[in-house]
Amino acid sequence: MTDLEAVKEGTRGMWSRGDYGRLAARIESAAREVVDGCAISAGQVVLDVAAGNGNAAVLAAREGAAVTASDLTPAMVELGRARTEGEGLDVEWTVADAEELPFEDERFDCATSVFGAMFAPRPDVVARELFRVVRPGNTVGMANWTPEGFNGRFFALGNRYAPPPPEDVPRPTDWGCEEIVRERFADLAGSILVEPRFVRWSFADAGEASRFFEETAGPSATLAEMLDDESRGRLREEFAELVDQFNSATDGSVEVDAEYLLVVARRRG
Ligand SMILES: C[S@@+](CC[C@H](N)C(=O)[O-])C[C@H]1O[C@@H](n2cnc3c(N)ncnc32)[C@H](O)[C@@H]1O
Repeated sequence: MTDLEAVKEGTRGMWSRGDYGRLAARIESAAREVVDGCAISAGQVVLDVAAGNGNAAVLAAREGAAVTASDLTPAMVELGRARTEGEGLDVEWTVADAEELPFEDERFDCATSVFGAMFAPRPDVVARELFRVVRPGNTVGMANWTPEGFNGRFFALGNRYAPPPPEDVPRPTDWGCEEIVRERFADLAGSILVEPRFVRWSFADAGEASRFFEETAGPSATLAEMLDDESRGRLREEFAELVDQFNSATDGSVEVDAEYLLVVARRRG
């Protein structure tokens, strides 16, 4: 049996590294899709789960929703709180595990999670929690990287250089597979809309892309620090090959469309 507390301690450690705000700025379009897909509007009571520094929380608050944002990593919550205070937005921040949300049943009109809850180790527990806290008939919205898309392949590449993940923990990108999402939500949702979407990564070249992720994404920063020079060099080469496979630019720059699944589900009435 996997020590889940150790897994989560590792998650907190990883996501405490890296200049996350720069990464968040580049994936904000996915938060926009989730907020629009869930039709978040003024007066609604909204929870953003695994909120990071609050991309979806900020957009929901700008719509006039009453927003609570939660994340497992205290450093992320601090970052998010500073961001929303800086923008003069009234968002309530809480450190919380997506598998154990500290909120009463049916408190929210909508729960969102953008590239967040997908990283919790027990997907069925997460699914139950997301639906428990929204009212019947109301929405759960997610954005999840697909396994075959650029980011899914990037994670799989990193996993070949990192210590092997626990065998009994499903890969996060299973949340990017339509059939699996439908299965996980089958007893919880009355309706489920699932659509592919893309985040575009634009960089001057593959080297800049590699440096960007190592500087901003906690898990990439952690892995780069952990590896010796030779392994780090090989990982960077393999990353450049992966970029090549997805790159639509022909002038040496990088234009990669990274696929994710937009999920909007309505809780059974
Ligand atoms: C890629 S970031 C996404 C953050 C944000 N939703 C966004 O759109 O920028 C992943 C986040 O998931 C959080 N996370 C991972 N496992 C979690 C869990 N079990 N419960 C809550 N948050 C978790 C991490 O701390 C991190 O902030």
